[in-house]
Parts: sequence; C-alpha cells; structure tokens
Amino acid sequence: MTTDSDKIVTPVQSLCAALVDQLRGLNAIRTGRVADAFRAVPRHLFAPEAPVAEVYSNQPIVTKRDERGLAISTVSAPRIQAFMLEQADIQPGMRVLEIGSGGVNAAYIAELVGEGGEVTTMDIDPFVVDRAMRFLPEAGYEHVNVVLADGEFGVPEHAPYDRIVVTVGAWDIPPAWWEQLSPGGRIVVPIRVRSLNRSVAFQLEGEHLVSRSIERAGFVAMQGAGAFGEEVVYLHGDTVALRVDDGQQADGVLLAAALKQPRVELWSGVTVGDQEPFDDLDMFLATSMPGFCLLTAHESAVAAGIVQARPWGSSAVVDGGAFAYVVLRQLGPDSHEFGVYGHGSGAEALAARVVEQINTWQSSHRGGPAPVILAHPMGTPADQLAGGLVIDKKHTRFTVSWSR
Ligand SMILES: C[S@@+](CC[C@H](N)C(=O)[O-])C[C@H]1O[C@@H](n2cnc3c(N)ncnc32)[C@H](O)[C@@H]1O
Repeated sequence: MTTDSDKIVTPVQSLCAALVDQLRGLNAIRTGRVADAFRAVPRHLFAPEAPVAEVYSNQPIVTKRDERGLAISTVSAPRIQAFMLEQADIQPGMRVLEIGSGGVNAAYIAELVGEGGEVTTMDIDPFVVDRAMRFLPEAGYEHVNVVLADGEFGVPEHAPYDRIVVTVGAWDIPPAWWEQLSPGGRIVVPIRVRSLNRSVAFQLEGEHLVSRSIERAGFVAMQGAGAFGEEVVYLHGDTVALRVDDGQQADGVLLAAALKQPRVELWSGVTVGDQEPFDDLDMFLATSMPGFCLLTAHESAVAAGIVQARPWGSSAVVDGGAFAYVVLRQLGPDSHEFGVYGHGSGAEALAARVVEQINTWQSSHRGGPAPVILAHPMGTPADQLAGGLVIDKKHTRFTVSWSR
C-alpha cells in the first residue's frame, strides 16, 4: 500500500536521482543494477564533512592529504565508481574484495552482491579504515568486512574472490591478487601502462588475465609494498617534465638543451571534435613507439609558450637528444587537427615518425576495438606469451596487441 509519506521526495533523493541521470547520460552507468545500487546507498553518510550537494555531484571528495597537500585518500568521483562497477560485472551472491576503501563504494558493491554475497573492503590507512568501520554500519551495511592491511597482499582470510576491485592507482598485479582470485574471476584495476592511467577489467582465463574493457581513470597512487613511482625528468626548472615509465629512457641534460632549440612543427591532417576523447590514440602511441613518455607542464610554462602540454599530460616520444609531442590546433568551432612539435637534434625525423603513427591510428584503429592486454605471471617464457608489445613489470609480463 502506498502512503502519503512514500510520495515525499527528499532533497537527498532528488540529488541522488539527478546524479543517476547524469551518470547514465555520461554512459558511466550502463545497467539497471548499478543504477539501483546508486539509488539505494546514502552517499552523503560517507563524507559527512562535505555539503550534501557536493557529495551528489560528479566530483571526488578529498578526505586526506599528505604533508605536501597532495590528496592521498578520496571518495572517488561517482563517474569513476560507476564505470568501474560496470567493468566489474558484479552478480548477486559473489564474493568481492575492494582494495582502497572509504566505505561508499563497498556499500554499492554490497548492494550488487545482495544478502548471499560477501564484501571485504581494505585500506592501508587506519584513518580511512576507521571511517569505513563507522560509516558502513551507520548506513546499514554492517556485514561488510573492513580490514586494515596493505593491498599488495590482498586479504587471504576472506579469499577466494570472484571479483577484486582496486580503487587505488597500481603499476603491477602482485601474486596475491592472482592467488586470491576464483577461477574465471575478474580484477578491475587502474593500472599505469607507460605513464598512462587506465582502468582495465581483467578476466582470469586459464593461466593468464585478459582485458575485457579499458577506460581512462586517474587515481591516487598506491602506497606500501606495491608503490612504484615514475621517473620525472625535468626540462625547464620544475615547470616542464617528462614522465618516464616502464623502462623507457630520457636524458634530462640533453633534452633540456633540446627544448632551448627552435621547435619543428608538423601537421597530420587528422582531426578530432571539441569534446571527442582520443584516449586510444595515446594508448596506441604508448604501445607502438619506443621512447614513449608523457610531457607535463605547469600552466605558467604553457602560458609562456614554452610547451603546449595538456593538463593531464601529452603523448611524447624521446629519441636520444630529441623529443616530439602531440599537440592540437583549432581548425573550426568543433574541429582540431593533431600535430607534432619537436625539439633537438633529429627532431624533424622523429616528429615525422609520430605523425606517421597518428595516421596509422586514423586508418587502422580509430573507432575500432580496444587493444587486448594480457597479463602473464613473471617467469612465463617468451615463447608462451601472447603476441604484441611486451611490458615487463616486477611480478607480471604484460602484452599489448592491436587488431588490424
Ligand atoms: C581513491 S581512494 C579509495 C576510494 C574508495 N574506494 C571509495 O569508496 O570511493 C584510494 C585509497 O587507497 C588507499 N591505499 C593506498 N595504498 C594502498 C595499499 N597499498 N593498500 C590498500 N589501500 C591503499 C588510500 O589510503 C586511499 O584511501
């Protein structure tokens, strides 16, 4: 029977409904089950320090910063939580481990697994664990296991897991995650591949993990035993830098000198719309060009015309004393052309190689399937790896291949 009080829509309910509509519009929520989970969880109870309207807007809430002021714990932006839950494909009755806690995402997972499932959420930081231990029961999720530990080692006491959802930026897949995953299970992890951060849904198939979907996702970096920073090579004071990852090489002295030389400029003829994402171009360049790095710059260096890097970094390639990076120029109100700027000795030839790869992406991969990333345990001999580029981490041998 419906009563009058059932019809009353509170401000929180309408904020929540608007958020769900927005996330559907962004294609972050794709299924009714994830939409229902977002409607069911009182998100504001997990960030009581923030205004309610902010908690139901599509932005992260920083809950802890380090001594330099950098965010080390957040309630993630709803868009990222939603598409990672979709990537995880969590079904009723499943056992799920969340690495990197806060509470709210564990509550969404608890909704998705239902009463027959089991959720374990863990964090390395006692402050975060304490919050999750308080907020989850307050919001009605008293059965979620909350554990203080380093995610590098998983949580063996509640294993095995059908799903492991990692909500902190990783560089590798440590052995514990493989060991604690059920046969046919899935790991969703924001992983750094040659300086690019991507949330990858990996399905366990026999002895290896196979990517099922790849989305761009930035996260706070992993602390503890699995922490693995990139090399940062400065080219102009501390305002212009190359982020160098996965065994790539860049000589700071040579490249800082190169930046002082006049730039070469080549244009590709390949265009992109104003809001059109091109994450797969970055991924294609990263996994097809030796010497790939990410060029980052402080806005003062961009304003001064020293480089033209995007706020989150621009694809760049280093070859000895030269580097070249991808830029855009506006052609019309909704059209931009990809080009390449290069500096240093041999920059013209290097820039031409990058332009050629942009054209290969355009003709062979744009709008096509994502690359397939396979993870093999370290120690897998080369002749048993899948084809494609091999990227060796500490515990895992990744291969990346693009279909033609
Ligand atoms: C983005 S927050 C997690 C967001 C959360 N899942 C939510 O509900 O929105 C990332 C968390 O990862 C945690 N973290 C960092 N390194 C970790 C590690 N090695 N093991 C477990 N947690 C870690 C941080 O303390 C931080 O709280």
